[in-house]
Amino acid sequence: MERTWWKEAVVYQIYPRSFKDSDGNGVGDIQGIVSKLDYLQELGVDVIWLSPVYKSPNDDNGYDISDYFEIMDEFGTMQDWTQLLDGLHERGMKLLMDLVVNHTSDEHAWFAESRSSRDNPYRDYYIWRPGKGGNMPPNNWRSFFSGSAWKYDDTTGEYYLHLFSKKQPDLNWDNPKLRQSVYEMMTFWLDKGVDGFRMDVINLISKVPGLPDDGEDGLGDGSPYFMNGPYVHDYLREMNEQVLSKYDVMTVGETPGVSVEEALKYTGADRKELQMVFQFEHMDVDAGDGDKWTVVPWTLQKLCGVLHKWQTGLAEDGWNSLYLNNHDQPRMVSRFGNDGEYRVPSAKMLATLLHTLKGTPYIYQGEELGMTNIQFSSIEDYRDIEILNMYEERVTQGNADPGTIMEAIHVKGRDNARTPMQWNAGPNAGFTTGMPWIRINPNYKEINAEASMSDPDSVFRYYQRLIASRKQNPVMVYGDYQLLLQDHEQIYAYTRTLGEVIWLIALNFSESAAILELDDRYSGMKRELIIGNYPEDGMETERLRPYEARVYRMFT
Ligand code: GLC
Repeated sequence: MERTWWKEAVVYQIYPRSFKDSDGNGVGDIQGIVSKLDYLQELGVDVIWLSPVYKSPNDDNGYDISDYFEIMDEFGTMQDWTQLLDGLHERGMKLLMDLVVNHTSDEHAWFAESRSSRDNPYRDYYIWRPGKGGNMPPNNWRSFFSGSAWKYDDTTGEYYLHLFSKKQPDLNWDNPKLRQSVYEMMTFWLDKGVDGFRMDVINLISKVPGLPDDGEDGLGDGSPYFMNGPYVHDYLREMNEQVLSKYDVMTVGETPGVSVEEALKYTGADRKELQMVFQFEHMDVDAGDGDKWTVVPWTLQKLCGVLHKWQTGLAEDGWNSLYLNNHDQPRMVSRFGNDGEYRVPSAKMLATLLHTLKGTPYIYQGEELGMTNIQFSSIEDYRDIEILNMYEERVTQGNADPGTIMEAIHVKGRDNARTPMQWNAGPNAGFTTGMPWIRINPNYKEINAEASMSDPDSVFRYYQRLIASRKQNPVMVYGDYQLLLQDHEQIYAYTRTLGEVIWLIALNFSESAAILELDDRYSGMKRELIIGNYPEDGMETERLRPYEARVYRMFT
């Protein structure tokens, strides 16, 4: 397998709104990030993925872009952005920009033109259709943010498609002019020196011609008609040929609903499309009936089953991205670990998983502190459009029980990950001197960067060790993966092998002790503990303590 910098990198995602506010308006900004570059360098990460900082009315916190060439007022100026890029490059880090091109904001100039008349040159930049049978939307697709995916527009008497909010009209990728406009914009940023893109819902850009209904009655999911659509690979290859191939950049596509087979098409080395995708299968292990908000307990067998499938599926070709949370997902320690008594060991155990599976690890801001989910008791405290629209549809207009829905929001809501970074135990956790745009998690007095950095056993220090170790040990990056225990209820164990080097990783995912029974091949070998999340004192070879993680070098 070819060695490349983006396989060896550890990526850190910044959600700028919630990272660090420099001017006291309660919203994180670019100068805030600049002030924390030394922190990021100390952690040891190589690449920063910056969630969108472009001009935006913030219907979906920047994922609704009104100008791709300008910086959002609340975040600063292009000068600030250049300072950030330079500051990263000076420290040997790289910058990955978020590329949101499945849709724009309805306040984008293209959309203003497009909606103005049916024969405007920009009309076909978006997806317009006449209504069906008088006043019905063109088809029954459901928006990811509740309700129909179509909105009627008075000016021209037609509907436009929006898979997300009605302020996020979908772009028409079948129009070559639109594609050229996107490539020009990408080139603009690449020429400024950015090191790659994380591509927002990039597998939704090609819709099945005719836009057929999904099922007969009421709203249908629609995804078979726009996920991994008929021309998506053609468009990505064209983008690669015309833009990406001219630069040494990293690309990761966000691809909900992608299978291993499909992922190989996006990431296969000879395909010349993308380098990695974010798959979602392991994010669905606690969703009942395909509904995110129907929370069911996950099991280790299910979670490992999915991770194992992806490890083996992309072993020979393609490349995995490794993540357990981001700005769209609850905090990993609350979801897959334990955010009470075992918060610290379980956060470290999950970190061990992320850095020892084969693929590129993605850390989401605050994860390195073991930050946890939030539970607001009132819907008023939530800010996320997905949560608010869902609550409106199911509780206010439907007859769902508000208590049940609030519980689901506590477990799954995106705002879990969007409460501000907890920098210290001072006012507003050191995030802002003003009024934070969303409430801060009250546990900041205990969980914060300052505390974490002054404690040699903290989650932060453990991440630092893992990241440093990945740089010194190619086996962590390139070693072959092999599963050791089939369907274990508590332990996920596997080896990584590169030439003569064998590492064995054992992770206890439960809050009780677990017996680690290895087969003859490994039980007879000598071992040296390389990394562990418990003191060696009291360590028993075959017994893992609650959430214990061990990384051994095996030898004879
Ligand atoms: C992606 C983003 C998410 C956003 C959506 C629409 O899933 O990660 O935050 O709401 O796309 O742009």
